[in-house]
Amino acid sequence: MKTSQIRSAFLEFFRSKGHTIVPSSSLVPSNDPTLLFTNSGMVQFKNVFLGSEKLKFVRAADVQRCLRAGGKHNDLDSVGYTARHHTFFEMLGNWSFGDYFKREAIAWAWEFLTGVLKLEKDRLWVTVYHTDDEAYAIWNEEIGVPAARIVRIGDNKGAPFASDNFWQMADTGPCGPCTEIFYDHGADIAGGPPGSPDEDGDRYIEIWNLVFMQFDRAADGTLTPLPAPCVDTGMGLERLAAVLQHVHSNYEIDLFQRLIGEAARLTHTGDLENKSLRVIADHIRACAFLIVDGVLPSNEGRGYVLRRIIRRALRHGWMLGQKRPFFHAMVPVLVEVMGDAYVELTEKRELVESALRKEEERFGETLENGMRLLESALKEDTQYVGTASSSSRVVPGKIAFTLYDTYGFPVDLTADIARERGWTVDMAGFEAEMGQQRERARSASQFDSKATLPAELASALPPTNFLGYEMLDADGVEVLAIVRDGRAAPALDDGDEAIVILDRTPFYAESGGQVGDTGVLTSADGRFEVADTVKLGGVFHAHVGRWRGGALRAGARVDARVDGARRQATVLNHSATHLLHAALRKELGTHVQQKGSLVAPDRLRFDFSHFQPLGADELRRIEDLVNAEVRRNSEAQVREMAYQDALDFGALALFGEKYGDEVRVLRMGEFSTELCGGTHVGRTGDIGLFKILGESGVAAGVRRIEAVTGAAAIAHVAEEEARLDEIGSLLSAHGAEVVDKLRQLFERQKKLERELESFKARAASSATQDLAAAAREIGGIRVVAARVDGLDAKALREGVDGLKQKLADCVVLLAAGADGKVALVGGVHGAALGRIKAGDVVAHVAALIGGKGGGRPDMAQGGGIDSPALDAALAALPDWVGQRLS
Ligand code: ALA
Repeated sequence: MKTSQIRSAFLEFFRSKGHTIVPSSSLVPSNDPTLLFTNSGMVQFKNVFLGSEKLKFVRAADVQRCLRAGGKHNDLDSVGYTARHHTFFEMLGNWSFGDYFKREAIAWAWEFLTGVLKLEKDRLWVTVYHTDDEAYAIWNEEIGVPAARIVRIGDNKGAPFASDNFWQMADTGPCGPCTEIFYDHGADIAGGPPGSPDEDGDRYIEIWNLVFMQFDRAADGTLTPLPAPCVDTGMGLERLAAVLQHVHSNYEIDLFQRLIGEAARLTHTGDLENKSLRVIADHIRACAFLIVDGVLPSNEGRGYVLRRIIRRALRHGWMLGQKRPFFHAMVPVLVEVMGDAYVELTEKRELVESALRKEEERFGETLENGMRLLESALKEDTQYVGTASSSSRVVPGKIAFTLYDTYGFPVDLTADIARERGWTVDMAGFEAEMGQQRERARSASQFDSKATLPAELASALPPTNFLGYEMLDADGVEVLAIVRDGRAAPALDDGDEAIVILDRTPFYAESGGQVGDTGVLTSADGRFEVADTVKLGGVFHAHVGRWRGGALRAGARVDARVDGARRQATVLNHSATHLLHAALRKELGTHVQQKGSLVAPDRLRFDFSHFQPLGADELRRIEDLVNAEVRRNSEAQVREMAYQDALDFGALALFGEKYGDEVRVLRMGEFSTELCGGTHVGRTGDIGLFKILGESGVAAGVRRIEAVTGAAAIAHVAEEEARLDEIGSLLSAHGAEVVDKLRQLFERQKKLERELESFKARAASSATQDLAAAAREIGGIRVVAARVDGLDAKALREGVDGLKQKLADCVVLLAAGADGKVALVGGVHGAALGRIKAGDVVAHVAALIGGKGGGRPDMAQGGGIDSPALDAALAALPDWVGQRLS
């Protein structure tokens, strides 16, 4: 049975048992920041088990793409070393949400394996959780599996839930006891049955895990029963295919053979058993599907896991001798073998190829040098000063860090290579180096902040009531506290710099990328000029500025006035940022995620994930999309709602950002819906005009767009127009003529340059005519030494060549001065060859003018400083040559 046939047979079987077939979810779990990757089929149903989500059906089955390369389930290090571990694999699964339980789950699993797939019953073994007598009895009495092939597994190490037959998705979440079905590949393969000391061999392979989900595990380990007992099963497609195709390693199944064959072709490897081919075949699946699911290589989080897997694959290609990009070229065959089951792979094929190629090119530049450094570290006799472990086959942390920092080697890649040679990496040393680097980065970015709130104030004050969504002025607000140099102060005198905290304020405090407001706080005694507003302790709006006037005391009342024009300009940029975000996702794809933003009055800056520079056409389309939405003049609606409702409402939230229970959702027409605490326009038309100023890269996989809106955008256009006018008047041309005129000018310039070239060549040849005539003859050798200013290096060489032809047996030196420097070219020809070297002639003259030179016996070049010494040296050269010749 081919892999593709097994997928359909499984789904068909469970459809016949009343199951709804659902599609595979993404490798990136939606809205579950606790989990790095979808590591099993049940992830998309987590909330259904917990009871917080209801589906229209109570039985489901699917084929789920899974990744175990980080987090609780991580098989990355085993890939290539065993017959059955993968980073990426496909899991066949069936589920009951409070419907059937142990009896049906076990009976159907048995029916599918022995009835549909016709596996030999005698080759199947089962395990049950050590206290699960119910499951034991079903297997033994109802199914008829002999006691000799049922193994109780569990709590033998005093660690009740860390044991094998208790499955949990992660450290928290749904979990429960399980029963597993094993296949015996036969006595010719080493290994013992489950629970025996050599169970880790490849003979008895677990193929299906039936989990009886009963609990929700909290971070402290407590187990709360689920609203209803559920069933979660998982069967590795690759393992099952191996059984059905009568091979013992997953890598021998049809799908992998195709990938391994392609990897062999691309790396010119003859030995199909080579371990590195398996690693490449495994990794291309993981990497391609991660990219399909919106992950791009980066230096943190999921992107870094992807980068590590790619780089590991590239290193294996490198070991096979393939030093050029090859990994992305695996994609077409991958699409061929998996594209039917996963249309998203076919659809995103180009994205996958280009993202992989970029990463290959990037790492290709440093892989070779990094390997050289590592190779030298992996020598027995290498001694590392100051390393305790210098003799014990340990790669020092400092080297692992340099490999990471300078050569882009993820530390697990270094460890992987070290392990192959029986070495380890000093991880503590590596971590220490990383810590120092973080420290350096932190101290470099530490800003001089007077803006801190003493702890006693922070605990005593009520959170600031922010009025600025509705108003820019508020009268009679109370000064709750004054802070100077980090300490509470009772009052301010004229000229004091301080922080003022009010009970309520229209001043927006910097957050979410939007800059803080400026303005004034006035009282009868003076005015506090607010230079900035920052948020302290998450809830206090701190007005930073200087007091002018008589004393201002804590407890006083002031009138607060925000600089309205500045705020309004900021607001336009903030709303435009949301439109830009939405436009980027429409134009480039939903892998675009906000990575940072700055919303200031004069411009906006938006950083986002994308793996390559944007073309002029893309930028134009993005700008057009935003401006179309501006012209649509949609109302900007703000709603407050619970976080989960906001997500259900389709609002875009920033991954990894912390939100409170109640959030503000900003919606502009049908175009953009995003969580945001900032201040915004009333209608999109307020933005007036959106103009992109530029696009650039800020880090690997992160691009930046800067743009302006409103009056600033119009000013920008006016400036560009003025520049165009100026160019036009310089060219005496208008509008489209300007371009034609410029083109003509460039052509004319090229023509003039060509003419100049030929003039120079002619001048050089006539100069050499004269020089040939003036050559001095010394013992049958003719000597020329002359200055021919105005010739460039090329013309000088041609001059020397010309003289050599004319004078036959000769020594020639030409010098040309320009800008205080002199270029020298020397030549020796005919009978003079072998008696004097051109290099020596040039070196001799160069030395006299403070320079250097050298070259071949018949032609040499050099240079020095233009000075009277040159003329003297040239005049004396024939005699010097004469002496040399005699
Ligand atoms: N969730 C279970 C597993 O992954 C079925 O093994």
